[in-house]
Amino acid sequence: MKITLINSEKTKINKALEIVLVKKLSHLSSKEQVLLKKLNFSKDNKNILLLEKNKYYILCPSLKQESVKITLCNALRKLKSEGFKKLVFSLCTAKKELELSSLIEGLVLGNYSFKKYKTGHKETKISIYIDIKNSNKDLASLEKECDEALIICKNVNFVRDLNNTTAEDYSPKSMSEDARKIAKKYNLECKIYGEEDLAEKNMNVMLAVGRASRHESQLIHLHYVPKDKSLGKFVLVGKGLTYDCGGLSLKPTLGMLTMKRDKTGGITVLGIMSALRDLNYPYEVHGIIGAVENMIGGDAFKPGDVLYAKNKVSVEVRNTDAEGRLVLADCLCYAQDEIKDIDCLINIATLTGACKIALGVYTTGVMAHSSSLKNKMQKASNKSGELIGTLPFNDFLEKLIHSGIADVSNAGSSPAGGAITAALFLDKFIKKRNKNKWLHLDMAGPAYSEVPWAYHSHGASGSGLRLLLHFIKHFKKQ
Ligand code: BES
Ligand code: ZN
Ligand code: ZN
Repeated sequence: MKITLINSEKTKINKALEIVLVKKLSHLSSKEQVLLKKLNFSKDNKNILLLEKNKYYILCPSLKQESVKITLCNALRKLKSEGFKKLVFSLCTAKKELELSSLIEGLVLGNYSFKKYKTGHKETKISIYIDIKNSNKDLASLEKECDEALIICKNVNFVRDLNNTTAEDYSPKSMSEDARKIAKKYNLECKIYGEEDLAEKNMNVMLAVGRASRHESQLIHLHYVPKDKSLGKFVLVGKGLTYDCGGLSLKPTLGMLTMKRDKTGGITVLGIMSALRDLNYPYEVHGIIGAVENMIGGDAFKPGDVLYAKNKVSVEVRNTDAEGRLVLADCLCYAQDEIKDIDCLINIATLTGACKIALGVYTTGVMAHSSSLKNKMQKASNKSGELIGTLPFNDFLEKLIHSGIADVSNAGSSPAGGAITAALFLDKFIKKRNKNKWLHLDMAGPAYSEVPWAYHSHGASGSGLRLLLHFIKHFKKQ
């Protein structure tokens, strides 16, 4: 898909279909109103194609950002399937200038589908023109907005591609190789640690999770330093389980079917790190990923084991399927041992099925001690369109992870409040000085769906990347 900004007053595109978003019929010329009324244009008949005029009218009662994205995605998919190859979208409707980034996201993200495993598939090329006639913004700022939106969309689709790739084709080593490539391309520092290094660093909890896998666990540490003065320091820690069968606390067939998605947090961190240089963000960002596969075998870690994390906290493993928090625990310790003066520490993970039950499958769970950070994340949600819901901590739930034998248990004694008890477990590995700088995102729901939704097709949605990039972009030191 190629996107070009044009001004129809200066450039005419031949044989292109013009898409007209109509909020109210009365916004159109009286001639158009008569014609469309005759054709019964209404909420029961929202789309009208006038081939003789090369126009496609869509009734769109809401022009809010997310509605625009979804409307454009649906129009694109329909028109593409009908063989149209040149489409023109106007930035300005009769009464309102839309957000350019919304148009681009709706079209580029909506155009994505994963065809790696479909033999003989040929992608149809489509040219999109965005008409900036009547815009209140100057060309330079529109071009900048366009470039930025395209960089973000490219990286969302990159995250989707990797996440849709099967666990057979994408191991922890694949992730560390990709990290190396990104570091080289964008001039980032890159450290990769294998199992020997992890043992040396006393990251025994993370090591235990990957022990039964034929793939070596990898700790990935990428570091972006802005060209100009840094306005703050972010640390992102991602759960990169390339597969989670549950370990000896084995998942049922359906539960493990899509568990290649359990690397979403890690892949999202990878996608963010690969976007920062192009976006020229003025913040220092560390991306840390625990890339591990949770499998079964004679060497597997077991329910009942007691393990010692990097910070010497002892953990009773009561369920090997609660492995993500184990990997994150050691990665969080590593992050705080290695990086000084952190302004914001965020971990991102497909951590609990309970989060899907609490918030539904479209919403990312947000947990943190600091209300200020949670408010900032809400603002990033409003800007990006990604849904979030905050889940509150409390002392009663904390008791559910008490262990009779060790400092803490890796699974709550009751499934109720499971997303929160998982976060309270992670809290045991957050140093005092970082408590109010830490925020946890549980994206078990929106990461992946076999039912297409919004402008996401079957599979990985790429959720998390736009949310976090908006969060970082608008973060100002408290
Ligand atoms: N990776 C899963 C969480 C998950 C579930 C992600 C569904 C995406 C969709 C995680 O490792 C897990 O299995 N968690 C357990 C924790 C429990 C054993 C305490 C869960 O949620 O059931
Ligand atoms: Zn699990
Ligand atoms: Zn998992």
